Amino acid sequence: DIRGVIFDLDGVLTDTAEYHYQAWQRLADEEGIPFNRQANEALRGVSRRESLMLIIGDRKYSEAQIQEMMERKNGYYIELIHHVTPKDLLPGAIALLEELRQAGIKTAIGSASKNAQTVVELLGIVDKVDAIADGYSVKQPKPAPDLFLYAAKELGLQPKQCVVVEDAAAGVEAALAGGMWAVGLGPVERVGAADVVLPSLAGVKWADIQAKLSEKVL
Ligand code: G6P
Ligand code: MG
Repeated sequence: DIRGVIFDLDGVLTDTAEYHYQAWQRLADEEGIPFNRQANEALRGVSRRESLMLIIGDRKYSEAQIQEMMERKNGYYIELIHHVTPKDLLPGAIALLEELRQAGIKTAIGSASKNAQTVVELLGIVDKVDAIADGYSVKQPKPAPDLFLYAAKELGLQPKQCVVVEDAAAGVEAALAGGMWAVGLGPVERVGAADVVLPSLAGVKWADIQAKLSEKVL
């Protein structure tokens, strides 16, 4: 019996994944490192440090330079998210959050981002969720299940009572590793490991998700 839904933030409730991309692109350009939108696909849902490691590849940088680059990228990202408003919620997001609240289903944000709290505030959904797990909550990044386990605990639920909604392969992996149900948003090539795959949250009703999950069990 499912009692809670944990939403990833970037790429699920809002398209800040685009801003992460733009900020990394600006940094890569400044450093003269080849990078593009396609290369960015591998960074979806990946922690700040691991993202930078994927961008620099085998180029040699000191720890101090790595720290500076992570901070520089974050500065660019913060500039970009300043413009986020409730209009930036992706189609279907607010409807589903409100429907879940009505149905007595607990909701949480499970985002690896240290900026998640700010984005949630700018989106105006602080009081639409029961808990927020962010980049400060746990040490191990996705695909480790720690962040989602933390969110489930905050909701007072067992992992198997929770569904995670994710747009990233690493996030789907984290949900399944934690013993939770996974709904993947996006192409099968990316989120095909999830129990249910949907193109987006547009028009998605809680009953649709429940029906698709119960098909899995039968
Ligand atoms: C989320 C995003 C990633 C981002 C990570 C860390 O998982 O999907 O693109 O790298 O959070 O975010 P932060 O804002 O702390 O750099
Ligand atoms: Mg995401």
